[in-house]
Amino acid sequence: MTRLQTPRWAWVLTGSGHFFVESFALIHTLVHCDVFVSKAANEVLRMYGLKLDFPDTMRVLHDKTASAVPVGGFYHGDYHSVVIAPATSNTVAKCVAGISDSLPTNVYAQAGKCRVPSIVFACDTAPELETMAPGGMVKVYPRPIDLENTARLKTYERTEVVESLAELTAAVTRRGREVADLG
Ligand SMILES: Cc1cc2nc3c(=O)[nH]c(=O)nc-3n(C[C@H](O)[C@H](O)[C@H](O)COP(=O)(O)O)c2cc1C
Repeated sequence: MTRLQTPRWAWVLTGSGHFFVESFALIHTLVHCDVFVSKAANEVLRMYGLKLDFPDTMRVLHDKTASAVPVGGFYHGDYHSVVIAPATSNTVAKCVAGISDSLPTNVYAQAGKCRVPSIVFACDTAPELETMAPGGMVKVYPRPIDLENTARLKTYERTEVVESLAELTAAVTRRGREVADLG
């Protein structure tokens, strides 16, 4: 196995169909990255016909423990940045409330406690959205509470909330350059 480089990216997949395939593809543009997979994401990715087959410079970490064992690396400086993409309304709501009871919410919480910045691709950004369901495009109407949570998360420190694939790509590219400049 290739020696893992640190610090590296921590990419979190949650169980959102919204730009799931596109977010998944972006992971492949990175080299040194750990992929944290929520229980729901593990189900959803199969519905979209995707496989967690990444190069051996990456690790795939599943949500199998009550204490979120895989987040331990944050305490040892293993990660320079977190990307939660796509982020379900569930994960966004919990992050806003300071809850950490799943792998995604623990990554966000521990990143915050270790002063590691996060980029969050929120799904619920407008009162009416077109999103990709396993059977094709569908219309959804995020609730006021979902929109309110996305807006609140934008005010949190070391948290950049992005609302489109273009914004996500730009934020990841910008952060990658920053990290490279820091050497
Ligand atoms: C095919 C499929 C697509 C889904 N898409 C979304 C979505 O776009 N946004 C969302 O908030 N939840 C979506 N869900 C529901 C979440 O998976 C569910 O709320 C889950 O509990 C989220 O858990 P997590 O935040 O830990 O990943 C979807 C579920 C399925 C089965």
